[in-house]
Amino acid sequence: MLNLGVLISGRGSNLQAIIDACEKGGIPAKVAVVISNKPDAFGLERAKKHDIPAAVFDPKQYPDKNTYELEIVKTLKQHKVGLVCLAGYMRIVGEVLLEHYQGKMINIHPALLPAFPGLHVQQAALDHGVKVSGATVHFVDEGCDTGPIICQAAVPVKEGDTEEALSARILEQEHKIYPQAIKLFAEGRLKIEGRKVRIK
Ligand code: GAR
Repeated sequence: MLNLGVLISGRGSNLQAIIDACEKGGIPAKVAVVISNKPDAFGLERAKKHDIPAAVFDPKQYPDKNTYELEIVKTLKQHKVGLVCLAGYMRIVGEVLLEHYQGKMINIHPALLPAFPGLHVQQAALDHGVKVSGATVHFVDEGCDTGPIICQAAVPVKEGDTEEALSARILEQEHKIYPQAIKLFAEGRLKIEGRKVRIK
């Protein structure tokens, strides 16, 4: 059984999708700990409801990013986490987390990478006039949304779409592909080869 550590900053709907998929038994994994950088993240309530240990680390309480991330790493190790899942974690991962978990840390992003990395990407996709956007699960590297891609789902952009409407349509797909990617990892079927992720 693979122990997951899920890092969040807010609502936690992807966290919920992961918890549900694990509880259904389709994935040989369980959420061992939830970590938030925001004390008021709604995802913390979700963890509580499922009796999952949760911790909050406020980066402002630490002298620097390395010290902050060391606390996170300590907690992940305590819970024997084998895969770190960033699920709406709105901070750039630094060298300490990478040093300990590169190749064992994945992220969900609400666009078809490498298009539209960063923040507010659904609005950016609308502003650019793309006809298709989507969601991407990728390994985390030192860049911003640049790591090797595990899986993607395409989502149509509709005439007159608002940011909310497009975000909701993308989110529906996020909730499907994130558990799928975790399942592949848990089953040992992902192999990183340079930029590419081979699915065995
Ligand atoms: C999701 O759409 C996720 O893809 C996005 O934030 C949202 C979090 O929702 N993540 C990023 O933009 C990361 N750069 P959730 O808290 O309900 O899972």
